[in-house]
Amino acid sequence: MQAIDALLTRRSARTLTDPAPDDAALELIFASAVRAPDHGRLRPWRFVIVRDKARERFGELLADHLRRTHPQIGEESLQRERLKAFRAPLIVVVAARSNPEIKKVPVIEQTLSAGAAAHAMMLAAYALGFNAMWKTGEPAYDAGVKSGLGLEPGDAVVGFLYFGTESGEPAAVPRPEWRDLVRELAEP
Ligand SMILES: Cc1cc2nc3c(=O)[nH]c(=O)nc-3n(C[C@H](O)[C@H](O)[C@H](O)COP(=O)(O)O)c2cc1C
Repeated sequence: MQAIDALLTRRSARTLTDPAPDDAALELIFASAVRAPDHGRLRPWRFVIVRDKARERFGELLADHLRRTHPQIGEESLQRERLKAFRAPLIVVVAARSNPEIKKVPVIEQTLSAGAAAHAMMLAAYALGFNAMWKTGEPAYDAGVKSGLGLEPGDAVVGFLYFGTESGEPAAVPRPEWRDLVRELAEP
């Protein structure tokens, strides 16, 4: 697939099943991630791969977060939360480990770089014949979830990227008319 075709046709998958990107595809996905624009070459990205049985641990972290934040929650809801980890065969947690001491590169720029890495990963997966869905939600901002993933409290989880092979019809997401969003600064 040409890069421009991937850019112009990528969309999120609603349903992701096996096969997950294999090791060769995953290498290309990560190699794409570390091509993200990165002010100051800070490499502010961290990635956690969650697959196979490890998804049980991720599901438990999600359920544990729900239990802590909603003490009255019932077992049925907790089980639904656990099953979110099985929405796709592979999850990559993308985090920004920003250094606030570096004044020349504000934290927002370091975080944006991690977002750019995540987008590159989604595009790479799509170009390789797989697809993905970028999710966050409250667990992304929770210190307990971060710790359970081996991340640091100061890390910003920019996304839980779910990867696999798309099945079923993609959601019909209307695309904006870019002309409505663009203006050109007039010459003096
Ligand atoms: C930072 C970020 C977090 C997101 N978190 C969620 C989420 O938690 N749940 C969700 O349904 N969509 C989430 N989305 C949106 C979807 O990933 C997706 O972009 C959206 O459904 C539109 O589909 P499209 O990618 O085909 O345009 C998030 C997107 C971004 C950029």
